[in-house]
Amino acid sequence: MGMEIIVQTDAEAVGEYVAAKFTRVIENQPRTVLGVATGSSPRTTYRALARRAQAGLDTSGVRAFALDEYVGLDVDHPQSYHEIIRQEVTEPLGLNPSAVHVPHGQAQDLESAGPEYEAAIRDAGGVDVQLLGIGSNGHIGFNEPGSSLAGRTRLKTLAPKTRQDNARFFGGDITAVPIHCLTQGIGTILAAKSVVLVATGAAKARAIAAMAEGPVAAFCPASALQLHEHVTVVIDEDAASELTYREYYDFARDHRPDWQI
Ligand code: F6R
Repeated sequence: MGMEIIVQTDAEAVGEYVAAKFTRVIENQPRTVLGVATGSSPRTTYRALARRAQAGLDTSGVRAFALDEYVGLDVDHPQSYHEIIRQEVTEPLGLNPSAVHVPHGQAQDLESAGPEYEAAIRDAGGVDVQLLGIGSNGHIGFNEPGSSLAGRTRLKTLAPKTRQDNARFFGGDITAVPIHCLTQGIGTILAAKSVVLVATGAAKARAIAAMAEGPVAAFCPASALQLHEHVTVVIDEDAASELTYREYYDFARDHRPDWQI
């Protein structure tokens, strides 16, 4: 199928669309391995999934692996991805906490933490569906421009643009944003069986166009998703505003073969 682009009216509709898709996956395969992202983009998806869990969707067998974690924040720091995943994913979706994994950004031995995380994903049978956001500079996970398109989970340095973008989560203070992180690599992300990327807002429009229509290049790490066979990009009108072939994507969505629905 390649990369399918679905434009929805707004962030709520993006969340509903993705939650409906995930619900089908979980119903078909109760022990699904989800790849989960943090940040603001997936929040409407998590909220819509939480509503479905409250309405009876059985998530007790679902396992999850987060994309990344800051280095230098305690696990219970309000902005650590351990804490954010617990609050936004594990608890509201009713997942078993021992089946939810986040890279160990607090590890003494950060060099071993990456390969250990890769081994845990492998032992779980690999990620079935990976949910992603995208940085305004085209990053996925914390694979900043210039990252290896084949990399695996490892220690990385955040780009100044990412620290500036994420300062909003740290009271607007860029100096409070960690400089390093542990992140799944693009090679890890590409190994997921399918990928769903969500983005909303005009600040993501250039990155979305570069990802979907630009060259596959380290300039825009998300462009590596063009090499994956099953990617669904679910975005709002603003994030779609720089796409050159927008009309074609809508046409393809409206004429999707029955067997793909
Ligand atoms: C989060 C992550 C990042 C974010 C990206 C977009 O785990 O890996 O790639 O998805 O920075 O962040 P938001 O959604 O806050 O704009």
